[in-house]
Amino acid sequence: MGNVSILVGAQWGDEGKGKWIDILARDTDIVARFQGGNNAGHTLYVNGQKVVLHQIPSGIFQPGKISALCAGVVVNPSQLIMEIKKVADHVVLTPERLWLSARAHVITPWHIHLDSKRESEAANPIGTTKRGIGPTYAEKANRTGIRLGDYVNEGKRKEWYELLSQNPAFVEHRKTHAADWREFEESAAQLKAFVVDAEHLVRKEIKAGKRALLEGAQGALLDINHGTYPYVTSSETAAGGAFASLGFSPRNVDKIYGVAKAYVTRVGSGAFPTELNDSVGQHLATLGKEFGATTGRPRRCGWLDAVALRYSGAISGYDGLILNKMDILTGLDEIKVCVAYDHPVHGRIEEFPWDHDILQECKPIYKSFKGWTETLPAGGKISDLPAAARAYVDGVEEIIGYPVSMVGTGVNRQDALFR
Ligand code: IMP
Repeated sequence: MGNVSILVGAQWGDEGKGKWIDILARDTDIVARFQGGNNAGHTLYVNGQKVVLHQIPSGIFQPGKISALCAGVVVNPSQLIMEIKKVADHVVLTPERLWLSARAHVITPWHIHLDSKRESEAANPIGTTKRGIGPTYAEKANRTGIRLGDYVNEGKRKEWYELLSQNPAFVEHRKTHAADWREFEESAAQLKAFVVDAEHLVRKEIKAGKRALLEGAQGALLDINHGTYPYVTSSETAAGGAFASLGFSPRNVDKIYGVAKAYVTRVGSGAFPTELNDSVGQHLATLGKEFGATTGRPRRCGWLDAVALRYSGAISGYDGLILNKMDILTGLDEIKVCVAYDHPVHGRIEEFPWDHDILQECKPIYKSFKGWTETLPAGGKISDLPAAARAYVDGVEEIIGYPVSMVGTGVNRQDALFR
């Protein structure tokens, strides 16, 4: 049995991963983020206080744990410094507790500019968070990016400026956005002490028998390879991304968890077969407080999509699904789960299509469940759920074909049910 667990979003992000990382971090020694950047917004309630993390792993509030950002992450330096200051009320992050990978690529003011420009000029915008994520990963793939280890080295930073200065638009941007670039420069010195060979250190700890929890951001359906391309993010959000980012043997893995809401939300553009533009969608949005933690944008809401969850399970190999925010369904007379799609040309579709155009044309085929009115238990076992809620969980398990191992019934740490 291995000593590494992986937790990823099973839908289009915003499944509530932060809360579950916080819970699972109790039994782990290291929590490491493996992809994405400050496009993520992980909301946690610590001692009743709401905290939104964008870059620091969500295990940070469990005493004594080490947090790491691995090679596959992209880092916004000034935002990270702000975040370190923001959590200082709860935890003081020293270089012993926060390891930043020297290999992680840096988001610069230039990349943020390119992201916004592309979105505003595109005929079909992706609906990105405009945090510079895509351009930073593109630069990485183009071998013209800047890694944290080089960024905190003044000489290497200058070399990078020279490389990009072959582009007059970059030179112009540095002139016209001098304050942003000054902040970018100053942040390097502040982060320097945290920048290490994080992958080596994490692997060493794993070898020594310490437990590691690898935290994904966004969700499997936003994966650059397996998601609803082109309406995806720019990194590998499925569990496989953890191996690429940290660089370790898959044989070390003990458990892989996917987190899904008991319904679905999506921010930004892209197909969403179970989307509800009616009073039920409104109910989910209002009760679920479905506004983006990073951008504040309203999230699109819909019924649980089991076709998507079967696919998500297949590409990440979940040992168990964490079915979150089940309390938001309380009070609905009828609850639906999409079991297959109906397509005007291809008829009944059971497999999540690779082609976004086809997905766009799919209509959901639903199975209906009886609702419940009882308040769901805060803490305890899944078997403590009221009968109708239990039947819903059992039904979901049967349709997706893998176990529901935990259920979320509220925003706090304790609102968690286990098998
Ligand atoms: P980007 O990651 O900012 O490039 O945005 C690409 C797509 O991923 C857009 O549809 C975003 O709304 C979505 N996205 C990025 N980060 C998150 C997240 O943390 N939660 C939900 N959607 C996200």
